[in-house]
Amino acid sequence: MNNRRAAFMISAADITGCPQARLPEYAFFGRSNVGKSSLINMITGVKNLARTSATPGKTQLLNYYMVDEDTWYLVDLPGYGYAKVSKKSRKNWEKIIREYLLQRQSLVYTFILVDTRHDPQKSDLELINWMGEEGLPFCLVFTKADKISRNAVRRNVDEYKKVLAENWEELPPIFITSSHSGEGKSEINTFIATSNSEYSVLTEQKQ
Ligand code: GTP
Ligand code: MG
Repeated sequence: MNNRRAAFMISAADITGCPQARLPEYAFFGRSNVGKSSLINMITGVKNLARTSATPGKTQLLNYYMVDEDTWYLVDLPGYGYAKVSKKSRKNWEKIIREYLLQRQSLVYTFILVDTRHDPQKSDLELINWMGEEGLPFCLVFTKADKISRNAVRRNVDEYKKVLAENWEELPPIFITSSHSGEGKSEINTFIATSNSEYSVLTEQKQ
């Protein structure tokens, strides 16, 4: 898949600071350090578009990127589960993110990122179950697949599916990715392109 044209647009402190909801948008969310910013750079093919860091907790705002010249937005959300954040600040962020996920009308899908190497984590499962209960559309993205063997990737993904199947009949779309090797890039881009077409058909019908 060719690289895209993408540029940083705006940082919003909360939903009121988001751009006018006129384009389909996709949010990237997950634990701090899971690889959100790296994945954004990988799928757009624009190096250093989103700031990546070895220090967790770097992404602090809702960072908007405009992709393909006024076609869709990509949103890098601050990671959760970073121990050094104060309880008060964490609660505040949870409220901001919850409001964004529940109320943002042009949010088409949220990509929830989990590290392929780890067992299902409590905070990730809580988020996934909450999204499911609220009926919010999301995909599950396994990151850093290059860090373990193919067999271990398959085993961990199967294990994750099994845990989800305890609560949910239908599983979300699943992507296995590596920002280092580019694995999953074309699958995610194809998924977004399809979702964008569906979104424009839907909005045309509403008008
Ligand atoms: P916060 O914004 O702090 O929440 O982090 P983030 O989720 O945006 O993570 P980021 O993309 O900054 O990546 C964190 C670290 O993981 C960096 O050192 C990246 O180089 C590394 N990393 C991210 N994706 C991959 C991957 O697919 N493979 C490998 N091997 N390392 C990765
Ligand atoms: Mg980040």
